[in-house]
Amino acid sequence: MNTITINKIEIENVKRVKAVKVEPTANGLTVIGGRNRQGKTSVLNAIAWALGGDRYRPSEAQREGSVIPPTLHIVMSNGLVVERKGKNSDLKVTDPSGQKAGQRLLDEFVEQLALDLPKFMQATDKEKADTLLRIIGVGEKLAELEQQEKSLYEQRRTIGQIGDQKEKFAKEQPYHPDAPKEPVSASDLIKQQQTILAKNGENQRKRENLQSLQAQYKQINAQFEELVAKRAAIAADLDTACKSAQDLQDESTAALEGNISQIEEINRKVRANLDKGKAEEDALDYANQYASLTTAIDETRQAKVDLLKGADLPLPDLSVTDGALTYRGQRWDNMSGTEQLQVSTAIVRKLNPKCGFVLLDKLEQMDLDTLREFGAWLEAEGLQAIATRVSTGEECTILIQDGYVVGAEQAEPVTAPAATNGNSSWKAGEF
Ligand SMILES: Nc1ncnc2c1ncn2[C@@H]1O[C@H](COP(=O)(O)OP(=O)(O)OP(=O)(O)O)[C@@H](O)[C@H]1O
Ligand SMILES: [Mg+2]
Repeated sequence: MNTITINKIEIENVKRVKAVKVEPTANGLTVIGGRNRQGKTSVLNAIAWALGGDRYRPSEAQREGSVIPPTLHIVMSNGLVVERKGKNSDLKVTDPSGQKAGQRLLDEFVEQLALDLPKFMQATDKEKADTLLRIIGVGEKLAELEQQEKSLYEQRRTIGQIGDQKEKFAKEQPYHPDAPKEPVSASDLIKQQQTILAKNGENQRKRENLQSLQAQYKQINAQFEELVAKRAAIAADLDTACKSAQDLQDESTAALEGNISQIEEINRKVRANLDKGKAEEDALDYANQYASLTTAIDETRQAKVDLLKGADLPLPDLSVTDGALTYRGQRWDNMSGTEQLQVSTAIVRKLNPKCGFVLLDKLEQMDLDTLREFGAWLEAEGLQAIATRVSTGEECTILIQDGYVVGAEQAEPVTAPAATNGNSSWKAGEF
């Protein structure tokens, strides 16, 4: 794709211009200098009118006091000749082979915003951001990510609110540190009681057996003579029974009885503790959900940054935040005038890659160092800039005074040779 620039400009009787002839630097900055009201901006107005069509026609196009209508003659780098002359200032476009063409052909390589940078600069933050996104081709994807981020954010807000409520609720629940972990079962306690009672019953039976043996022993003792043999047997039994009875010990069921009577109270506490535990778990669950949504939001934001990072930006450090254009992290109203100019130029330059030039008015806002840097950047970008500057200093390529180029012959303005003052060879980056 051929980038088209401006080789030669000849203007007569347009607004403040009497006769101006410029051969702009092919690559980089051409500075049209001069004092106020001498016709600098009129030169840019004339170029815009020549290349951009009648919508750029100045309201008072013909210079006051001139009997000759405006004359414009521009030669483009591709050999195209663009002219306006005559009573109606009709457009005439001629290609190098002599073929006639019209505005349609010009529109192919003339970017409207390159003729009217203020139009871009005055656009809203969102319009600027959208222009950038369109150029780098990530608008849709970015909108998708922004939508996703917004929805995650809303989701997290809701989860956060519920989580807070749940946590508050869990805190309000009573807790009984003295209650067991699990509810107490009445049947277990009754079973334990029955076991003990059964054992005690058995003990009782053994005691009764002992008593019976003792009674028999007494009786048999009385009948000792006859019952010696029987006595001996019973004595042996008695001995065993005595031994067995020695270690017998009864267990108390008092504690169990106490527990049984308190079972309702205990279980009420156990249930309360379990409820509190559940409420705490619930709150924790929401806290976890909140945390993972936070991670998702961070990831979406990072994806947005990565998307712009990976894009072929017109200028490094350009970005889009919350739908607004930013440069070095600053929104438009926080950029310096010079930064605004450079950002605009960089973006407009990419809008139509065929358009290799841009018109810049009021470059006096740049100090000389900045101007030099800007010129070097333009050169590196392969961009031709035709700029005006309220100055008569060395940095100016030509000086305009009273509608003429200082140092140029004024007798035959249109056909006079391209004579400029001694500064005409100045190029950005060379002083
Ligand atoms: N058709 C016209 N004929 C003659 N003079 C005109 C015409 N239109 C505008 N002017 C005058 O031209 C002057 C502005 O010209 P221009 O904007 O080109 O100057 P400039 O050098 O850019 O000035 P500044 O440094 O203030 O921007 C004004 O004084 C205005 O009255
Ligand atoms: Mg001006």
